[in-house]
Amino acid sequence: MKIAIASDHGGVNIREEIKKLLDEMGLQYEDFGCNCSTSVDYPDYALPVAERVANGEFDRGILICGTGIGMSIAANKVKGIRCALVHDTFSAKATRQHNDSNILSMGERVIGPGLAREIAQVWLTTEFEGGRHQNRIDKITQIEEKY
Ligand code: RB5
Repeated sequence: MKIAIASDHGGVNIREEIKKLLDEMGLQYEDFGCNCSTSVDYPDYALPVAERVANGEFDRGILICGTGIGMSIAANKVKGIRCALVHDTFSAKATRQHNDSNILSMGERVIGPGLAREIAQVWLTTEFEGGRHQNRIDKITQIEEKY
């Protein structure tokens, strides 16, 4: 599984923690920034990750900002992206099983690095259940086609 990861200035520490986890899990990844000591704009970092997951170059994406909210809003504008903003392990599991989320977003001002690691690990190792959940995702895709 190939992962695209990025953060803005508000998510640098958790991004580094998640990269360590990906190394430990033996997963390939590419870091799309930021290389920032000053303030940057989160959509500039959400977009390259979302585009590469949407076009299949990467299997999954992980985005971190201060709250995770801006990153998730921006990523979800890209067709084919189902970005889940998650701050607990129950939701991390459920969003893979039910929503087949392909990008995980977290907020470094909301949770600490330990919980972020656990969330990412659960999210990366949980499979989509398909079945009735696939019908619901197909309906989301239909909404995307319409607007
Ligand atoms: C940056 O100050 C902050 O707005 C950003 O990291 C994020 O929380 C946006 O949703």
